[in-house]
Amino acid sequence: MSAPIVTPVPAAAFDVEAVRAQFPVLAQQIRGKHLVYLDSGASAQKPEVVVQAVADCYRGYYSNIHRGVHALSERSTTAFERAREQVARFVNAPSPREIVFLRSTTEAINLVANSFLEPQLGPDDEILVTEMEHHSNIVPWQLVADRYGAKVVAAPVTDRGELDLDGLTRLIHGRTKLVAVTHVSNVLGTINPIADIVRLAHAQGVPVLVDGAQGVPHLAVDVQALGCDFYAFSAHKVYGPSGVGALWARAELLAAMPPYQGGGGMIRRVSFSGTTFADPPERFEAGTPDVAGVIGFGAAVEWTRALGLDAIAAHEHELTQYAMARLADIPGLRLIGTAADKAGVVSFVMDGVHPHDIGTILDGEGVAVRVGHHCAQPLMERFAVPATARASFGVYNTSADVDALAAALDKVRHWFG
Ligand code: ALA
Repeated sequence: MSAPIVTPVPAAAFDVEAVRAQFPVLAQQIRGKHLVYLDSGASAQKPEVVVQAVADCYRGYYSNIHRGVHALSERSTTAFERAREQVARFVNAPSPREIVFLRSTTEAINLVANSFLEPQLGPDDEILVTEMEHHSNIVPWQLVADRYGAKVVAAPVTDRGELDLDGLTRLIHGRTKLVAVTHVSNVLGTINPIADIVRLAHAQGVPVLVDGAQGVPHLAVDVQALGCDFYAFSAHKVYGPSGVGALWARAELLAAMPPYQGGGGMIRRVSFSGTTFADPPERFEAGTPDVAGVIGFGAAVEWTRALGLDAIAAHEHELTQYAMARLADIPGLRLIGTAADKAGVVSFVMDGVHPHDIGTILDGEGVAVRVGHHCAQPLMERFAVPATARASFGVYNTSADVDALAAALDKVRHWFG
């Protein structure tokens, strides 16, 4: 058995039922009801080709990589490095050598915080984020900022849930060391104008990191067109395995960054009189990686790319608009996040009902949503809510899923009415 062969749906024929058929997990009942999976923002389900790619690796050719001269190691190494090429192509990186494989978006941001930012940080320096960031794009910066008397400041978000670009611009100044911004808000669904933000920041010589965890599943990402300096993303939100992510960074930035974690695979030569390090990306890939997971990541991005990001974006846009319209009709329901440019995320609160009760009642109807603060407590504070309920869409969702959500929410209203 050799490396995985991906057999994607042709781009020209976006047929949601054909897509659904590739996700065995969706064909089940929950509490006697058809599963309606509206939690892809937390983690997307996996198509058969991804499950198969991972299984094929373990069944047919698994071994450690970059370490063996035997046949299985060579085959695993080839498949692993092919995944690097696939992931690079997925975000239009100029070179696969600019893709660092890590555990997650979170680890990618921690790498940049510790390896890129820390060496240049001093008292009163600032890292500019936004009020709509996930904790993973706030806390890593706070951890390094605290060590140097620097601080993390947040650009404001409007009542519609859009980034206030004038407010952001006012906060960029001579002591700003980095702008770190999400591509798509995991709570509001807002798509941020990254290319504009990059222009504003670069005009003042400030580099930009983009948290792309919620961007890559919904939008065609071209890091060269965006113009950013770092783009962090995870496999599991884009139909790949969990526990695997990637950082794209400009080659010259990676080349100047010191190692973040030490261990096997990231060195050139080790001795007690001094150790020298491998070039990027291996310099940042200490230890045995998730070999099969990375291969599954490659299969997932190939599958997504073949399905067509523009077709996916159009499908999800239609669903989001439909969901916003259906939910807006429910008495006592308030949408949180009504930006003009939104990806497939709809957050809401209901008068007199705690979001956890909404989540529990929906689960009884077979409808899976996420409830809580969504790892975005500052944003909850901004909107003066303790939590929201959130429906988030993937390629496999249909308007019937939205209808099932609306019907289940009617039940919530009657329970608490
Ligand atoms: N960041 C993920 C979410 O938004 C876990 O649910």
